[in-house]
Amino acid sequence: MPALTCQRTSFRPVLTAMAKCPSFVHQILLVFSFTAALSRAVTVNIPFSAPDGAPIVSGSLFSLSLEQDRWLDWVGTTSTGRNDFFFNTLDNLIQISGEAPQIRIGADSEDHTDFGVGVKDAELIFPAITETVPFPEASNITVGDAYYEAVQFLPPDTHVIWGVNFGTKNITAAFLEAQAIQQAFSSDAVQDAGIILDFVEIGNEADLYSGNGHRPSGFNVSEYVDEWATFATNVSAAAGITPDSHAQFWGGGFAESSHSTTGFSPQGMFSKGILDSKPGKLIKTISQHHYSGSFCSGNGGLLQDLMTKSTIRSNLSMFTPDIATVRDQGLDYVLGETNSYSCHGAPGVSNVAGAALWALDYALFARKIGVTRVHFHEGIGYKYNLIQPIALTRSPLDGSTLPDPLPPHVQPPYYAAVIAAEAAGNGGNTQLVELTIKNSRISGYGFFEGGSIARAVFINSEAFLIDLTAERTSVHVDLDFDDDAPSTMKVKRLVIGHADDASGLTWGGVTYETEDGRPSGEESVETVDVGDGFDIQATEVVLLSFS
Ligand SMILES: *[C@@H]1O[C@H](CO)[C@@H](O)[C@H](O)[C@H]1NC(C)=O
Ligand SMILES: *[C@@H]1O[C@H](CO)[C@@H](O)[C@H](O)[C@H]1NC(C)=O
Ligand SMILES: *[C@@H]1O[C@H](CO)[C@@H](O)[C@H](O)[C@H]1NC(C)=O
Ligand SMILES: *[C@@H]1O[C@H](CO)[C@@H](O)[C@H](O)[C@H]1NC(C)=O
Ligand SMILES: *[C@@H]1O[C@H](CO)[C@@H](O)[C@H](O)[C@H]1NC(C)=O
Repeated sequence: MPALTCQRTSFRPVLTAMAKCPSFVHQILLVFSFTAALSRAVTVNIPFSAPDGAPIVSGSLFSLSLEQDRWLDWVGTTSTGRNDFFFNTLDNLIQISGEAPQIRIGADSEDHTDFGVGVKDAELIFPAITETVPFPEASNITVGDAYYEAVQFLPPDTHVIWGVNFGTKNITAAFLEAQAIQQAFSSDAVQDAGIILDFVEIGNEADLYSGNGHRPSGFNVSEYVDEWATFATNVSAAAGITPDSHAQFWGGGFAESSHSTTGFSPQGMFSKGILDSKPGKLIKTISQHHYSGSFCSGNGGLLQDLMTKSTIRSNLSMFTPDIATVRDQGLDYVLGETNSYSCHGAPGVSNVAGAALWALDYALFARKIGVTRVHFHEGIGYKYNLIQPIALTRSPLDGSTLPDPLPPHVQPPYYAAVIAAEAAGNGGNTQLVELTIKNSRISGYGFFEGGSIARAVFINSEAFLIDLTAERTSVHVDLDFDDDAPSTMKVKRLVIGHADDASGLTWGGVTYETEDGRPSGEESVETVDVGDGFDIQATEVVLLSFS
C-alpha cells in the first residue's frame, strides 16, 4: 500500500505520523477504500495490428476555434505586423506533426459582427466586465477588409473556417463579410502564404437563437433550414463557393443536439431537407459544439469530475448517433467549438494541469468515435485557453487588476496539443486504437503506422491535488503483446506537480512556458525493457515509442 503521512515522509514512521496527524486513522481508512477500488497494477493488451477501420488520426486533431471579436489580437494586423507569440505556438505543433492546427474564426461574436465599408481593422464595443466573465465578448463588432486580410499572418498552409453573421438576420452583413473573405483569400499575400479557406459557416448556435433574442421564441429547425438556404444562396455567390470550389460550407454549429428529426440536430436538419437544397449540397462537414458543463467557479472535485474517464466518455458518446447519421451522408463530422466548461472556463479547473489530461483524453476519444477534428475554443483572457497570445492587464480568473501585466504564455492544455501531435506523428497515415484498460482512472491509446504499433499514450486521470495529504499513488502497467513484442521502448512523461497547478509542467524535460512560446530545455526520455512495463503516477501522461 502507498505511504501516507501528513509530512509526505515514508510509511515507516507510522507512530510518529499518528501522533502528528489527528486525522491519520481516517486517512488510512480512506486509502484502504481507494486501494480496494483501484488496483495498483494492470496488464494492457496491445493488438498486433490495427483493427480494420481504425481511424486515421491527423496531426491537426487539436485544432482551434477563435472568438472572432478579438481575432486581430490573436493574429496581428497589417499595421502592427504578425503576433509572433501566437505564430510560434502554432508553428511548434507544425514542427512536430507537419500539420497546422485548423483555425475556425467565429463563435458568439460572429453573430454580432457588421461590415463597415472603410473601417480600418475592427471597431469593438464591450459590455461591462464582471468577476465571473472578466473578458466578455464584444457586443458590437464592425470590421473592414483589413480584418480579413490579417489571415495572411497565420503559419503557411493553415486551413481556415470563417463564420458570417446569421444572428441579426441582416443579409447585407453576411453578404459583405462573405465578399471580404473571398477577396482576402484571393489576395497575393494570402495565396503566397498558402493559407486556404476550407469552409464558411453561417451563424453560430442557431438552436439558441430563440432564447437569446436573435429570433422570436419558438424558432424551430424547419424555419432554420429555410432561412439558412436563403442566406447560403447569397453567401455562396459572394464567397465564390460552388460545387467545384475548394471552399465549401460547414453546416450545423449547434450548441446542443436533440439527436432527433424534430429538433436542432444533424438528424433534424437532414429530415427538413437541408442537404437537398442547392446551397445545402455545398455542406461537406457538420460541426457540433459541446462543453462538459457550465461552472463559473471551480474546486478540486470539479477538476476530478472533468478529468474522469467515464464522464469524458459519456460527454462524447452521446453524439454517436449523430456521427453515424452524418457519415451515412458521406459528410465529415467535427467538434467545431468545444472546451471544458462554458463561462469561458471554471477558475482553478479549466486553466490547470488536470485540464491538459482532460483535453488529451477528450480529443483522442472523440477521434475514436468518429470526430475528425476537435476545435478547442479560445478567446483573449478566457480561462480554458491553450494559449494566451497577448499580455493581460487583468486576471483571467477574477478580473482583478494585476500589479504587472501577465505576458503572453501557454496554459497547461497546450501540452495536450503537443502530445497529440507527437503521438499522431508526421507520417500522415497513423491509425488510432483505444486500448482496453481495466482501471477506472487509466486510459490509453495505441498509434499504428503501416499497421503496426509505433507509439502508445497512457493517461492517469486521478487528480493529485495540492491539498491532498495522502502520498501520490502510482499504477504499474505491464504490456501484453499478441505477437512479436518489441524488446525496448522509450518512455516520455508529462511531469506535473499537482493537478491544480496552473504552470510548471514539463514534457520530456522540455517546457513551453517561455517568453516566445518556443520550447526550451533538454529532452529527457528513458529507454526501458518492454518486459519491465512502466509506472504511471496519479495525474501523469506517458508516451511510449516502440522501434
Ligand atoms: C446590416 O448590415 C450592414 C452591413 O454590416 C449595416 O451597415 C447595417 O447597419 C445593418 N442593418 C441593420 C438594420 O442592422
Ligand atoms: C450594438 O448592437 C445592438 C444590437 O445588435 C444595437 O441595438 C446597438 O445599437 C449597437 N450599438 C452601437 C453603439 O452600435
Ligand atoms: C445578396 O444580398 C445583397 C445584399 O442584400 C445583394 O446586394 C445581392 O444582390 C445578393 N446576392 C444574391 C446573389 O442574391
Ligand atoms: C415551425 O414553426 C413554424 C412557424 O411558427 C410553424 O409553421 C411550423 O409548423 C413549425 N414546424 C415544426 C416542425 O414545429
Ligand atoms: C460531462 O462531464 C461533466 C464533468 O466534467 C459531468 O458533470 C457531466 O455529467 C457529463 N455529462 C454527460 C452527459 O455525461
